[in-house]
Amino acid sequence: MQIVNKRYELSNGVDPLALCEKYGTPLYVYDAHIIERQFNRLQNAFDVPHLSLNFACKALTNVSVIKFLKQLGAGLDCVSVQEIKIGLAAGYQPEEILYTPSGVSIAEIEEAMEIGVHLNADNIPLLEQLGAMGVKNPLCIRINPDVMAGAYEKISVGHLASKFGIAYSQIGQVKEVVRKGRLHIEALHIHIGSGIYDIQAFIDGAEVLMKLAMDFPDLNYLNFGGGFKVAYKAGDKQTDIETFGKVMSEKFNQFCKKYGREISLHFEPGKFFVSEAGYLLVPVNVVKESPTQVFLGVNSGQNHLIRPMFYEAYHRIENISNPLGDRVKYNVVGYICETDDLGKNRMISQAKTGDVLAIYNAGAYCYSMSNNYNSRFRPAEVMVYNGQDYLVRKRETMEDLMRTQTMVEVK
Ligand code: LLP
Repeated sequence: MQIVNKRYELSNGVDPLALCEKYGTPLYVYDAHIIERQFNRLQNAFDVPHLSLNFACKALTNVSVIKFLKQLGAGLDCVSVQEIKIGLAAGYQPEEILYTPSGVSIAEIEEAMEIGVHLNADNIPLLEQLGAMGVKNPLCIRINPDVMAGAYEKISVGHLASKFGIAYSQIGQVKEVVRKGRLHIEALHIHIGSGIYDIQAFIDGAEVLMKLAMDFPDLNYLNFGGGFKVAYKAGDKQTDIETFGKVMSEKFNQFCKKYGREISLHFEPGKFFVSEAGYLLVPVNVVKESPTQVFLGVNSGQNHLIRPMFYEAYHRIENISNPLGDRVKYNVVGYICETDDLGKNRMISQAKTGDVLAIYNAGAYCYSMSNNYNSRFRPAEVMVYNGQDYLVRKRETMEDLMRTQTMVEVK
């Protein structure tokens, strides 16, 4: 969203303030042109015979957004049986879905396999169990390559102290379990973290996987996960996708030659596809001056967007009601009964009650990590494409909050 003719506009000149009028606030808005741009950018970055880009839908699990990514040609990465069912509702066939659970119950895994999705196994006991069950489905194995990378410690998951994947040093044991259980391994997978700008980290992980792959003769693809970094503010570091695509394609094509077959190259980004497409639009409730600060209290908070509190993540904030106003230093805070700073010490166009602030990069891990803390409703979601706006999720109501509760009188 940028200033065009003295006002903020989304793609095709769509006015975000008109969306607030139409749908109410707070409001999540997704500019689908940005999703399309990012998908095409990633697709064009690689030069390999077979490429598959799957959307890690935990980033933004809206069925219409998933359907839009399907239309673009994306596959789907799911981490729960519920995500799988949303993917099916969006029109995916089970075999187009990779299911990458982490420490879930065997009952959930059985349910997923009955649906017919591909399973990515991330522990040895699970592989043993699958062998004992006589499972014949083609399987993927998630490897932990011991690479430390990620924007925050909490989202760096490719190192050995992390719970994810099977340590590459345990590969001997994996091969033994696969042999004994007569398991059909069609793929190997890594995902080393989120928000990684350093290309070398991806390459280091990829090299571990390509080396291990030589011992698995029936592979159809290697999956190198997601984790590409996008910019959260002007001048922010981001993954140089075009350079990475070039280097990675060369390495992968060399690997295929050595392997003796042209197998497929897979990635499964979340943030890269949807982060920059999303905005959370929130009205200012109060401008509150203390002896040391000026607070902008907004009609939203950590219940709608928790990344700043959870990771100390930076999200750009602009006052879209006063595009050209003088810049003033504010602390933008939520209405939740805890400290929920959305942005500290930000230079923002002068704001008054009723102005609408746009919180940027609200496409990935924002709505999908939202909650009902303080018994507040989650916002509506709107997708914009070709100048049209579409309501893709309704605002919650009191009925939604009460739907799963039962009233008992304890005697
Ligand atoms: N594949 C696997 C197995 C994953 O666990 C993840 C993310 C992805 C792909 C997609 O990663 P991405 O391309 O979005 O970085 N809530 C955090 C991010 C957690 C990511 C969890 N796994 C945040 O808000 O930054």
